[in-house]
Amino acid sequence: MSKRYWLTGASSGIGEALARELLEQGCELIVSARSAERLQPLVDAYPERCQALAVDLIDAEQLARAEEELGGLCDYLDGVIVNAGTCEYIDVKAFDPAPFARVMAINFQGAVNTLALALPLLRKTERAHVIGIGSMVTRLPLPRSQAYGGSKAAFEYLMNSLRVDLAGEGIDVTLVRPGFVKTPLTDRNDFDMPFLQTPIQAAQIIAKGIHKRRRIVQFPRPLVIIMALVRFLPLGLQTGFLKKLSRNQEHS
Ligand SMILES: NC(=O)c1ccc[n+]([C@@H]2O[C@H](COP(=O)([O-])OP(=O)(O)OC[C@H]3O[C@@H](n4cnc5c(N)ncnc54)[C@H](OP(=O)(O)O)[C@@H]3O)[C@@H](O)[C@H]2O)c1
Repeated sequence: MSKRYWLTGASSGIGEALARELLEQGCELIVSARSAERLQPLVDAYPERCQALAVDLIDAEQLARAEEELGGLCDYLDGVIVNAGTCEYIDVKAFDPAPFARVMAINFQGAVNTLALALPLLRKTERAHVIGIGSMVTRLPLPRSQAYGGSKAAFEYLMNSLRVDLAGEGIDVTLVRPGFVKTPLTDRNDFDMPFLQTPIQAAQIIAKGIHKRRRIVQFPRPLVIIMALVRFLPLGLQTGFLKKLSRNQEHS
């Protein structure tokens, strides 16, 4: 179990819990986020197995420095866990491109930038593994989720098409679709989050899926089932159902 992973977004939420879970299991980790200070507690808790790489994954200068630093920290990776991300909701009445750019920047381009640094190191091991933290949001067109859902749909396509191209090199790709998990990201939400899970619960499910090399890991099961049922409704019925969740109800 002594695999070596680079895990982004490890300073809080799902990433931090997953880091602790994998470190407890004996894995070696390089953990990333923008601030080294917020990563220090992980390094202090597991000094012999955890190293920090502070980098803003959408800053070209920082990425160039990180490429060198990563090469200095390790000469190969068994896996990369592409987790860093954010969420902003859209008000369709004040439709603004700015949040779209911010969300796409880290959730999609940040993921691409991470992969560009990781792939050369993954190619130095047998049967390397790319793990991407997507979202259940891609299952249905949810209200106010045009930016977040769009970014995660793009991310999901990236992961799925990488799976096809990397299979020939023996590199596996796992796409993770969490439902709601209680983290600083979702603490900002002002709506009910059904089947909310703790970061520890999410981390345990994700770690298991990683070790089993599942192609898709999605949870929690009741939400997966409900979303799958609504997905199969004819579009008119599906829209009528989802419209009830929208805050833009002028013509209802
Ligand atoms: N929580 C949920 O319900 C949920 C559900 C589905 C999917 N997800 C996905 O799970 C992932 C983690 O979410 P979370 O809920 O754990 O959020 P979180 O607690 O806010 O963690 C986000 C992480 O991403 C890092 N990050 C953000 N922007 C970055 C940048 N430009 N460069 C480098 N690192 C950056 C943050 O680190 P710093 O701020 O310290 O840089 C932090 O470690 C995200 O991809 C999210 O979309 C979450």
